[in-house]
Formats: sequence, C-alpha cells, structure tokens
Amino acid sequence: MPGARGVHHGGMREILFDRFGGPDVLTLRTDSPRPTAGPGEVLVEVAYAGLNPLDYKIRDGSSARAEGLALPAGTGREMAGTVIGAGPDSAELDEAELASRGLAPGTRVFGMRGPGDDRGVVAEVIAIAADDLAPIPDAVEAEMLPRWAGLALAGLTAIATVRDTARIQEGQSVLVHGGSGGVGQLLIPMVLEAGAARVWATGRARNAERIRELGAEPIAYDEADWQREILAATDGEGVDVVLDTHYFSTFLPSLDVLRPDGLIVALPTLADLSPARERGIRAEIPQIVTGRDRLDHLVQGLRSGAYPLEASQVLPMERIDEAHRLLEDGHTRGKLVIDVRA
Ligand SMILES: NC(=O)c1ccc[n+]([C@@H]2O[C@H](COP(=O)([O-])OP(=O)(O)OC[C@H]3O[C@@H](n4cnc5c(N)ncnc54)[C@H](OP(=O)(O)O)[C@@H]3O)[C@@H](O)[C@H]2O)c1
Repeated sequence: MPGARGVHHGGMREILFDRFGGPDVLTLRTDSPRPTAGPGEVLVEVAYAGLNPLDYKIRDGSSARAEGLALPAGTGREMAGTVIGAGPDSAELDEAELASRGLAPGTRVFGMRGPGDDRGVVAEVIAIAADDLAPIPDAVEAEMLPRWAGLALAGLTAIATVRDTARIQEGQSVLVHGGSGGVGQLLIPMVLEAGAARVWATGRARNAERIRELGAEPIAYDEADWQREILAATDGEGVDVVLDTHYFSTFLPSLDVLRPDGLIVALPTLADLSPARERGIRAEIPQIVTGRDRLDHLVQGLRSGAYPLEASQVLPMERIDEAHRLLEDGHTRGKLVIDVRA
C-alpha cells in the first residue's frame, strides 16, 4: 500500500551504520528494503525522528545496548509519523482492533521503541509494536510534529524520574541539572506538578530565560558558582532532591548541596553512584517504563501547554552526522529532530 506521501514497495531511505565509531559511520541508504510488520506490529510512515544522547552512545559502542547489536543497525528510538497498516500476519491487529486503539491507518502517531527493540527509526517506513504508539490529536498542526517526534523518550524518562524514582513530594526543594535539555524541559514542569515548593535548574546563561519560562529559578553555571548559589538560597541547608541530567561535572559537587536524607538521581544509565553511596547518600538511576497510559499523559501535557517541550533544531536525513555531533556536544536545547521526508 503506498503511504500518504507515496512511499512505494521498492527501496526506501534509511540511516544505517555497519560498524561502531564516530558520526561518520552513519550512512544514508536509498535502497533499504521496506520492513514487514510482525505480530502485534504496525507499519508507520515516519515524518520526524527525535534524537537522544543514547543514539550516539549506541553508535560509538559505549552503551550497554550496543552489546550484541546486529550490524548494520539503524539509529534513533522515537518518532512521529502516520500509520500505514498492520502486517499481513497480524491476526490480532485487525482493522477493528487498530481503530479501537485509535491507530487506524492514516492516523498520525508518536512513540518510542520498547526497551527490548533495537531497530532504528530514522527510515521512511518502520515496523513498530502498536503498544509503543499513541495517536496525535487531530487538531495538532503539521508544523508542531517535530515536538511530538521528540516527546516519547524524554517524556517517559521524566515520568520515570519524577514519579517512580525520585517520588517528588509536596513541599520539597529540587535542583535540576540541565534544565533546558530534552529531559530537563519536562522534568521542571513535572516536578512542579508534583508539588515541589522550590525548583532551581542549572544551564548556560543563554538558556536562563527558557528555564525561567518553564517555572524554575535559573542558575547560570557558566557565569556563577552554582554550588554557592544553591547554598545561599537554602540558608546553607541544601535541597531535598537533585535530578542530574548532566552527571559528568555535576554529580560529585551535588553531593555537597543535599540535605541530610537527600536523594540524588543521575540520568545516564552508566553513571557511577558509588561516591554517593559510600557517603551514605541515596542515589538512583531511573528506568523508563513504557505504556500507553504514560504516552497518553504526555499527549495531554503537550496539548494543554503544561509540558512545553521545544524542538530547537530540525535537520534533514543527510545531515545525520552533523546532528550526532551536536548531540555529543551536550548542549541541545529541547529536542534535536531529523526530518525524514527531507
Ligand atoms: N536513564 C534513562 O533511562 C535515560 C533516559 C533518557 C536520557 N538519559 C540520559 O540523560 C542525559 C540527558 O539527556 P537529554 O536528552 O536531556 O540530553 P540533552 O538534550 O543533550 O541535554 C543536555 C543538557 O545538559 C546541559 N548541560 C551541559 N553541560 C552542563 C553542565 N556542566 N552543568 C549543567 N548542565 C549542563 C545542557 O544545557 P546547556 O546547553 O545550558 O549547557 C543541556 O540542557 C543523557 O546522558 C541521557 O543519555 C537517561
């Protein structure tokens, strides 16, 4: 079946890499075979793919997820697109079932691959589990789609961090490192929603206004000593919780701005928590929980304006290497998105 923009049965455009390495290993193929949808899966014509630091860590082989990955491999884990239909063998996903999930062919959807699914998403057509998708409301304008492409992974991470791991309570004081990044832009509103009394967020001075718009008190780490600022703002007591999306240069100094009984949550999955635990400080790494209920919660948040995630840059497929260089720089504001149609 041709897709809405006329994707045909022949080869398709897809980003693949056949060895681990720098951004140059990513290649745009124009003759990739179209995937077939397996049981429980649908075919989706991708419009935009959201990028995440995990993408370069898989590409360079440093992520635990790179272990055993079959090469050549695709890249990217989240996207927005249009449902084409279920596979021919997908008995459980007949038209009625797809419609009952709001995923009838022609519906615009967003989502991310589940933890056990290593296939990429930067391709004209992907096969993906119907459970990993949610419909985008009809009223959403086409120019907003890049934000939806970048919503699922950062959003599910922020939910896991705030609800499951940090369990933010009414009245707590919270410091977020990296408040204007992909996850940070969702952490701030979710922490406030959970009832935090005061929220500070670090970022470069150029991102201070954005952090303030999101509802946190900005601390420009490139202009001020953030440790001193936090201690001054809390009468030397420190905060209840640190949510550390950056980790590298922030984790150790954060241990000195936590109240006794405080909690630090580091986002990178390979973060070494032992320096905290050796000092008797609680430290955790969140784990994404997928599920339609959580995706639907993100839909409401983006629609209502409660989660104003921005897509700051949209690059065409042939600039995927440049996009990965930007990701690796570690200063993405909101989300970096690939236009799969361009
Ligand atoms: N555990 C999980 O399941 C999970 C899920 C998703 C993501 N992650 C990890 O979480 C981390 C963040 O992901 P992301 O998508 O939010 O990344 P991102 O969009 O690239 O954001 C990076 C942020 O870090 C800030 N930053 C850079 N240097 C900093 C410093 N020295 N101090 C404070 N902030 C600094 C940047 O702000 P400035 O530009 O202002 O410096 C930017 O806001 C990554 O390591 C990612 O792999 C983990």
